[in-house]
Amino acid sequence: MISMRNILTKRNLATAATKATSAAPRLKTFKIYRWNPDKPQEKPRLQDYQVDLNECGPMVLDALLKIKDEQDPTLTFRRSCREGICGSCAMNIGGRNTLACLCKIDQNESKNLKIYPLPHMYIVKDLVPDLTNFYQQYKSIKPFLQRKSFPEDGREVLQSIEDRKKLDGLYECILCACCSTACPSYWWNQEEYLGPSVLLQAYRWLIDSRDQAVKERRKMLQNSMSLYRCHTIMNCTKTCPKGLNPGQAIAEIKKQMAFT
Ligand code: SF4
Ligand code: SF4
Ligand code: FES
Repeated sequence: MISMRNILTKRNLATAATKATSAAPRLKTFKIYRWNPDKPQEKPRLQDYQVDLNECGPMVLDALLKIKDEQDPTLTFRRSCREGICGSCAMNIGGRNTLACLCKIDQNESKNLKIYPLPHMYIVKDLVPDLTNFYQQYKSIKPFLQRKSFPEDGREVLQSIEDRKKLDGLYECILCACCSTACPSYWWNQEEYLGPSVLLQAYRWLIDSRDQAVKERRKMLQNSMSLYRCHTIMNCTKTCPKGLNPGQAIAEIKKQMAFT
């Protein structure tokens, strides 16, 4: 037997479908950076794609997925969580480094949206930057707890609530590289300058009350390039899609190094 509720639900769905198909398309142009390493004779270029905003989710990543699914399967970009957690969809959108999955599409369809890979990086393909050097730099700061002694009872190394609080604003970093690739000092010295992202992580371990390698960690930064290339321009803090403040973390490291 068909219930009244089912009939109403079907009617609502039919009305919604008619509305969706009858609404005039709202076509927005996405101008996306393309470069294919397998066709080195072709120069990098911007390619135009039109997306009907009535048929697309609200975020830039929704538009990229729609283009890849429906128009051009060769378009290449990284993404995983679509929740601002994995950091893999970092790119330059409308002139700003950010995460495609957290960046809302400007609903004004008369305005084009330009999308480039993270700036000043080698490119693997299209919107995919080569992060090899970035990850090597992260590895170089030994981003893990270093202890010389362990509690006699063999249990965990405890930390006070106050000391744990010092890690807030640091542990949330998702290593997306938006900040480092927005930093002019990093653009020009990325072989030697660690950049804001990795330095924020370095600070995270420097102030962890459980860590016993503070001396070694500071020694590693005590040279003219790894840390002191930061000139407090603060592009890093302006662009961080997680609202963190790597510029301040760097300033705190400099203070620690100066006064201890
Ligand atoms: S500090 Fe912000 S921008 Fe930089 S890597 Fe971490 S989350 Fe990304
Ligand atoms: S504050 Fe330092 S790390 Fe941040 S953008 Fe400026 S120079 Fe780069
Ligand atoms: S897809 Fe994971 S941060 Fe955007």
